[in-house]
Amino acid sequence: MNDSREPSMKELAPANVRAIAPYVPGKPIAETARELGIAEDRILKMASNENPLGPSPAALAAIRAALDDVNYYPDGSGYDLKVVLSRKLGVGAANLVLGNGSNDVLELAARTFLTRDDSAIYSQHAFMVYPLAVQAIGAKAIVVPARDYGNDLDALAAAVRSDTKMVFVANPNNPTGTFSPWAEIERFLARVPSRVLVVLDEAYGEYLPDELASPTAGWLARFPNLVISRTLSKAYGLAGLRVGFAVAHPDVADVMNRVRQPFNVNHLALAAAAAALDDTDFIARSRAMNAAGLVQLADGLGRLGLEYIPSRANFLTVRVGAADAVYRSMLAEGVIVRPIAGYGLPEHLRVTVGLPEHNERFLGALARALGKR
Ligand SMILES: Cc1ncc(COP(=O)(O)O)c(C=O)c1O
Repeated sequence: MNDSREPSMKELAPANVRAIAPYVPGKPIAETARELGIAEDRILKMASNENPLGPSPAALAAIRAALDDVNYYPDGSGYDLKVVLSRKLGVGAANLVLGNGSNDVLELAARTFLTRDDSAIYSQHAFMVYPLAVQAIGAKAIVVPARDYGNDLDALAAAVRSDTKMVFVANPNNPTGTFSPWAEIERFLARVPSRVLVVLDEAYGEYLPDELASPTAGWLARFPNLVISRTLSKAYGLAGLRVGFAVAHPDVADVMNRVRQPFNVNHLALAAAAAALDDTDFIARSRAMNAAGLVQLADGLGRLGLEYIPSRANFLTVRVGAADAVYRSMLAEGVIVRPIAGYGLPEHLRVTVGLPEHNERFLGALARALGKR
C-alpha cells in the first residue's frame, strides 16, 4: 500500500511526461472476440490501417529463411535492407535511418533534435505520435488549425518562431486522409528556415496514384532540413514486424543513427522488409485493391447520405454524428472501426479500406447502427 505521505511513483516522472495522453490503438481482434464471446474469425478489424491482403508472400518466404538465425543479434547497420532502399529511392546508405516502425523514426527525430527550450509545430488532427514525442521531451507544442481537415501549409510556415526546431507534416495525413500537392509541399519547404527540421511523414505514400508519386527523396540536396519518414506497415503488409525508415541529409541521418538503439530493427523484420520492397506484384495488388475499396466505400457512404473526407490513404473518415454510440453498435456486430474523438473529431469514425466483402459488411453494419436499414 502507498503511504499517503509519500509521493506516488508517478510523481517521479516530470510533469510533461505525466501529462502524456496514452496512445489508444485500434481495438484488437482477440480482445473483441473475448468480450463478445465469439470466434476471432468472425471479427472484422478495420481500425488500424493494416493491409487486408495479409503480408507480402515474398516477405513471408524471407522470414522463414531467416528463422534459423535468430540466436544472433540482427545486423545493426541494416546493410542488406539499405542496399534495397538505396536502389529503390536513388539515395545513399548514408541517407537512411532504420526504425522499429516509422513511429520509432518520428520519435527518434524528436529525441535527436528537440530540447525543452525548443518548440515543435504540427497541425490540428495530426497523427498522435507527434504530440506524444514532443511532450515526452518537454518541448513546446504549437498546434496550427487545420484547413479543410488537412495541413494548412501557409499557417504552418507562418507559425515558425525563433525557438522552433521542428515541424511535422503528414502527407497524406492520418486520420483525415487529406493530401497536399507536392508542389505546395515544395513551396512550404522553401519558406521554412533551414534551422527548422521538417519531418515529412509519408506513411501512406504507396497508395498515391502514379501521377502523385512522392518526389521528395530527390529534394534532400536542396532541403538538408527535410526528414522523410516511410513505413513498411501499410502497403507492404508488415505492421506486426515493425519496420520503417527515414530518408534525410547524411548529417541528419548520422546524428539520428547515434541516438537510435543499435538493434532497433529485428532480424526477421530486416529480412522481410528487404523482400517486401521488391515484391512489386504484391504492392500493385495492394494499391489496386485500395483504390477500388475507396470507391466502394465512398459510393456506399454517399448512398447512406453521409459526409466523408476525400482520402488519398488506405482509410476513409466519415461523419456519423454520435460516433461513440455508432462505434459501439458496430462493435457489437464484430466490426471494429476507429473512433477519433482523441484527434478532435468526435463526430467522425475512421474506417480502413478492406477487401470488397469487408467493405460491404462495414457498410451494412454502419447502416444498421444508424437505423438506416
Ligand atoms: C501518419 C502516420 N505516420 C506513422 C505511422 C506509424 O506507423 P508505423 O510505426 O507502423 O510505421 C502511422 C500509423 O498509423 C501513421 O498513420
